[in-house]
Amino acid sequence: MDILKPERGGVYVDATVGLGGHAGEMLRLMGGRGMLIGIDRDEEALMVAAAALTPENVVLRHASFSRIEDVLGELRIDGANGILFDLGVSMLQLKEPGRGFSFSSDEPLDMRMDRSVGVSARDVVNTYSQERLTQILRDYGEERHAAKIARAIVARRREKPIETCRELARIAAWAYGGAGRQRIHPATRTFQALRIEVNGELSELEAGLDSSVRLLARGGRIAVISYHSLEDRIVKHFFKKAAVEGQLQVLTKKPVRPMPDEVRGNPAARSARLRGAEKL
Ligand SMILES: C[S@@+](CC[C@H](N)C(=O)[O-])C[C@H]1O[C@@H](n2cnc3c(N)ncnc32)[C@H](O)[C@@H]1O
Repeated sequence: MDILKPERGGVYVDATVGLGGHAGEMLRLMGGRGMLIGIDRDEEALMVAAAALTPENVVLRHASFSRIEDVLGELRIDGANGILFDLGVSMLQLKEPGRGFSFSSDEPLDMRMDRSVGVSARDVVNTYSQERLTQILRDYGEERHAAKIARAIVARRREKPIETCRELARIAAWAYGGAGRQRIHPATRTFQALRIEVNGELSELEAGLDSSVRLLARGGRIAVISYHSLEDRIVKHFFKKAAVEGQLQVLTKKPVRPMPDEVRGNPAARSARLRGAEKL
């Protein structure tokens, strides 16, 4: 909020409104004036946000944030004073049964944030070539055992399709076998990679950032919270380039990290990195 500085009467966009936590705080600082547009590609999240937020001054839209310009265009809004991106998945997606994001669950492999479109993680692991799987695990998961895990996936699916999160997690754990005690679960990077592929997360981010710079009014601010290095790298380079081109002034020399106290209360925050910039 210190970076976004929501003000009375302004137009703000929460491009990942999720369960409405950040949006609620933005609305409070806006003092009941202006307009907040909340976007999410997850319809279930939007229902939670709708129940959590008082309806005055709020418009919620089901869309991917790569379409942020269309969303505002349809509302006949031509600019914004602040735009927030809090990337990744919500607690609802991770914890709610049936979404297929969590490797400890015995549910169908899905991982689509928007269940009305696209291919699921089940489709990816059962139909992509071994080469493509290796590349996804390497590029999106930064997984050093990418080739071995992809080989194990293909060997397993020859016997029967891989249906559940737990089955996939076991395959990843098997590929790590004997590699000593891991700091994180051996399936973490595999699940990250599949989630990025299924939801086109990196191209979404690039398109969302591009559109945001066009939408921001002069002096308007953008804040982005990312949770893994691939996303953070995209944000960092994007801000740097926009600064060289004279479009943005970067407000965070280094990414802002959560304090140990915050991580103790909310372990999911441990990997968060926040960057902000102002439109020139
Ligand atoms: C970390 S949660 C946001 C939580 C929110 N800030 C809050 O306070 O409750 C991320 C949300 O972004 C949504 N999301 C991720 N990528 C998206 C995209 N490309 N377009 C729209 N929504 C997206 C997810 O569906 C999820 O609900």
